[in-house]
Parts: sequence; C-alpha cells; structure tokens
Amino acid sequence: QGQGAAPGGAPVDANTILLGQVGSLTGGQATFGISTRNGIELALKEANAAGGVKGKKLSIRVYDNQSKPEEAAQAATRLITQDKVVLILGDVASSNSLAMAEKAQAAGVPMITPSSTNPTVTDKGDYIFRVCFIDPFQGFVMAKFARENLKLNTVAVLQDNKSAYSIGLADVFRRKFTEMGGKVTAVESYSQGDTDYRAQLTAIRKSQPEGIYVPGYYSEVGIIARQAREVGLKVPLMGGDGWDSEKLFELGGSAIEGSYFSNHYSPDNPDPRVQKFIADYKAAYGAVPDALAALGYDSARVAVDALERAKDLSGPSVRDAIAQTKDFPGVAGTVTLDAQRNAVKSAVVLKVEDGKTQYVTTINP
Ligand code: PHE
Repeated sequence: QGQGAAPGGAPVDANTILLGQVGSLTGGQATFGISTRNGIELALKEANAAGGVKGKKLSIRVYDNQSKPEEAAQAATRLITQDKVVLILGDVASSNSLAMAEKAQAAGVPMITPSSTNPTVTDKGDYIFRVCFIDPFQGFVMAKFARENLKLNTVAVLQDNKSAYSIGLADVFRRKFTEMGGKVTAVESYSQGDTDYRAQLTAIRKSQPEGIYVPGYYSEVGIIARQAREVGLKVPLMGGDGWDSEKLFELGGSAIEGSYFSNHYSPDNPDPRVQKFIADYKAAYGAVPDALAALGYDSARVAVDALERAKDLSGPSVRDAIAQTKDFPGVAGTVTLDAQRNAVKSAVVLKVEDGKTQYVTTINP
C-alpha cells in the first residue's frame, strides 16, 4: 500500500517524475520514517512550486517497512519493478538501508539515504549515496567529547546487537576512547525490542564506570535510562543520532535528563536558512523538525538538484549527477559527496535538558 502524492497503484503520466521512499512509518522506529517523509514532502512541494524538474512535476510513492529490514528490501523491490521510480530515498536505520541498497544496486536504480550512518551502506555500490556523515566520525565525536569535555576516564558500553548501526558505532567509540587514554570497563548488549535491561545494567554498575555509552534507538534508550537509575547508576548516559526523537523524553522522563548525544543538526542553529526551514516545517506539520526531517529535506533537495542536472533520467545519468554533488547548501550542513559517496560534515553534541535538547558544541571532521 503506497502513500503520498501518488497513492499506490495510481498511474503516473508522462509529465510526472516518480520518486520512491521506503521508511519506518510504524514499528520501533516510527518517528524516524514519519519525520523523514515530512521533510521530503516539504522539499518536493517547494520544488514543484518552483516549476518542478525538466518541465515535469515531481511525485513520490512511499512504502512503510514496519522498521524491519526484510520489509525494507521488499518495498525497495516494489518501487523498482512495479512503480519504476527514477530514484529511491531512504531509509533511516542502517540495517534497513543495507537491505534496500542490495536491491537498488543490483537494479541500477540510484538510492540516497538521508541518515543511515553505518559505513557499509554506501559500500554496496556506485548507485548508493548518503547526505550525512558516517559512524567512524560520529564515534570519534562522542569519544572526544567524553574525554575532553566531560573529562571521563572510564566508560561502559551497552549496544544493540540487532542493529548494524549500534554495533558499528559502539566499536568505533571503544577504539577511539581507548586511543585517547580512556578505559572501557564493560561491554554489554541487548536486542532491539527487549524491555528488561536490568541484568546488563547491574553488570555495568559493578564495573563502576564514570559514564555509559548507549548507541541505540530512542525506543530502547528511553527504557534503558529509567532502568539504569533504578539499579543505582547515576553517571551520565551518552549516545548517537539514534536517540533523536520526541519520544525519547516521554520514555526516559527525568532519567534521561543530563544525558548527551551526537547529532546532525540543532534547531538552535541561528542560520537564517535553517530558521526558515524550521518555520515552514512547523507551519506544515505543527512540530519542530528533528534531524530526520532536516536530512529528509536535504536528501530530496539533493535529488531534485541532481535530476535537474542529469543528462536524462536513466539510472546511470542520475547516478553520475548525484555523484557530482558539491557544496550543496543543506539545512543539516553543506553536502559535498566524496569518492565513497558519503557527505563529510560536522556533528553537534546535544544535551537533554527540561525534556528537550540543548545545543552544546560542534565538532568538525
Ligand atoms: N544513523 C542511524 C542509523 O544509521 C539512523 C538515525 C539518523 C537515527 C539520524 C536518528 C537520527 O541507523
């Protein structure tokens, strides 16, 4: 069942360019897909209002992957074989994007993930791009922040073993934190969807760390924060972009206060371009855009820019045009794609305070 400007099955006429999105609209990471869809929709509305691309209107077909990699792969196949989209946007969670990238690369259909940060996603081939930084950088950012800003000597790590993203980010963080002279006192793991983390947290408490790195998704992190306090852990929690959701504050309550995470964008950025995006997004969706919305918006604008520059709308031409993206002014930073089809950008560190995020600092590559 498709959703969006061109409902599933609706024929697309010769004056329309059809794009596709696969997103987690339901399931454990639902806010990721919804925010991303909103950001993309806003960008396409603006592009259509400005005349579209090559004299044609843009339309998008959106499929839900229920936050599951198998569903993501199937949805990508449907977009490729049935809807014959010129390009795919998505997904957020790296495990889903990895499953989709396999299909897109095999079919020669360009794919841009707005926000998947695991490095192996774009390794799937020359049709796979991203408009965000990768986890070797993101892990370094939090290790540096933990050592230099929080002055921590010891940390424990709690990772999600069902997520390529979480495993990758935990590995980099451990390596970097150790290289910077810190010590990792314990490494524990869980599986996405678990609800009881007390055994792992108790083991972590016994190792007496000064902080805990939890590079998971908001749905689990919120509960982990509460149970950490319950078992007597009072030290700060730290995480990555996967924390970014309004739901984190709801799930974590007071337990998540005073925690830190790395992210792609801060709504506190005074840049007029960013503030205009925030105002437009608020008017359309009644909420402050999170990083997913910002990166969704950027991914669609990079796609539109590439489609306009492309010699024609064939897979190879669109691929080449995306690959040439340079100094593109996004709301979550400037996008220049490197030879590995990744964007090289700075990261921000945010603090959870009074049920929302507070900008702390920017760390450059
Ligand atoms: N980077 C995460 C991943 O690769 C997804 C994510 C991005 C989540 C931005 C929240 C914000 O799985």
